[in-house]
Amino acid sequence: MILKIENARVFIANKITYAEILIEDERIKKIAKIIDEKPDEKINAKNRLVIPAFIDSHVHVRDFFERYKEDYITASKAAIAGGVTTILEMPNTKPEIVNCEILNARIELARKKSYVDFGIFIGFNGKNLDEILSARTNLVKVYMDGTLGEIDYKDVEQLVEFSDKTIAFHAEDYKRIKENREKKLHHLVRDEYAELIAVKKISDIAKKYRKRIHICHVTCKDSFLYMNEYTTKEVTFHHIFFTNNLYERFGVMANINPPLRKLSDRNFLIEMLMKNRIDIIASDHAPHTLDEKIKGAPGFPCLDIFAKLVLTLMNYKILTLEQVINYCCKNPAKIFGIKNKGEILPNYYADLLIIDYKKEGIIKQEEFYSKSKFTPFDGFKYKGDIDTVILRGEIVYYDNEIIGKKGYGKYIGDL
Ligand code: DOR
Ligand code: ZN
Ligand code: ZN
Repeated sequence: MILKIENARVFIANKITYAEILIEDERIKKIAKIIDEKPDEKINAKNRLVIPAFIDSHVHVRDFFERYKEDYITASKAAIAGGVTTILEMPNTKPEIVNCEILNARIELARKKSYVDFGIFIGFNGKNLDEILSARTNLVKVYMDGTLGEIDYKDVEQLVEFSDKTIAFHAEDYKRIKENREKKLHHLVRDEYAELIAVKKISDIAKKYRKRIHICHVTCKDSFLYMNEYTTKEVTFHHIFFTNNLYERFGVMANINPPLRKLSDRNFLIEMLMKNRIDIIASDHAPHTLDEKIKGAPGFPCLDIFAKLVLTLMNYKILTLEQVINYCCKNPAKIFGIKNKGEILPNYYADLLIIDYKKEGIIKQEEFYSKSKFTPFDGFKYKGDIDTVILRGEIVYYDNEIIGKKGYGKYIGDL
């Protein structure tokens, strides 16, 4: 199938240019002012902006025994609604993705259900280095907070030394969290120091072995300033938009790991984003039922509103268009080795968004495709949303509707 996008304003070579895009099968074939070849189908972009589709490198899909919270169908539909055509999913599932057998079962499950392309992290639990080295994924996740068991920094050192895969860290020190147990309040148990301890040790290990590592959801200034040239950094929408005063409105429903921090930390993260000192913005989509949230389960669903939030940041002039593409397309592709995605270039996969930059509205959590429907963004006034989503040359979202297909999503290891 040959598809042509006409009347587009395309962000290429860091500039907005009027152009037409020719897509053949799954890939971009040509970008030019005028393309003469006759397509099978045309899309009129109506002078709107066309940018690469988003890659969300931090997603909890659940499924397996936690299908009641979320499954691959609902999570990947939520992704499309958010302009995300590639998700990288985290291994703290039930059962946990900590060996090749479960990883392979997971790839098969996602192949059957996913509407979007997906990569899967294998989790390191301190004892499974062999499994990690032979796994069919280049993505490794390490939880220093005890999520997949209590892991010593000595074990992390071994992993960093012997593996050449991309290792992402949840950096909160489990010993510090345990010591703080008595403090009861979530953000005092998981305090800034818990993050700082883990960040220091991990950054030092990366430097010692001269290996690049990735730190997920950075939340505070002190830990940010400790990182070195071997660490790439992610921030989440929740830590950009909210502070720990959310506890006054929502009590334990405001829980998230690592917790929301004070205003000065939040402002610092925004400053770092504006100065290009961050690498990735991710959703950390973490679905729970309302009952579980009321009891304090950490995290929020966020895939559905990825585009609305990031385009609002652009409309607020916190991010430029170039930064949006760097943080949500180009850098995730580069850091996690996703080939031929994240940019609009000939031979790259045609993963594209047509943007309605001026569209305004109110976020309504009950409209989420995600099974999880509690977000602190409910009622938030956004400006900017997607108009059309294209994944590998197929239109998967148009006219406020998902028209993609279950099982169309591919494993990034097969691309
Ligand atoms: O808030 C969080 N929720 N942080 C995590 O690290 C895990 C996540 C989840 O899986 O619910
Ligand atoms: Zn985490
Ligand atoms: Zn997470």
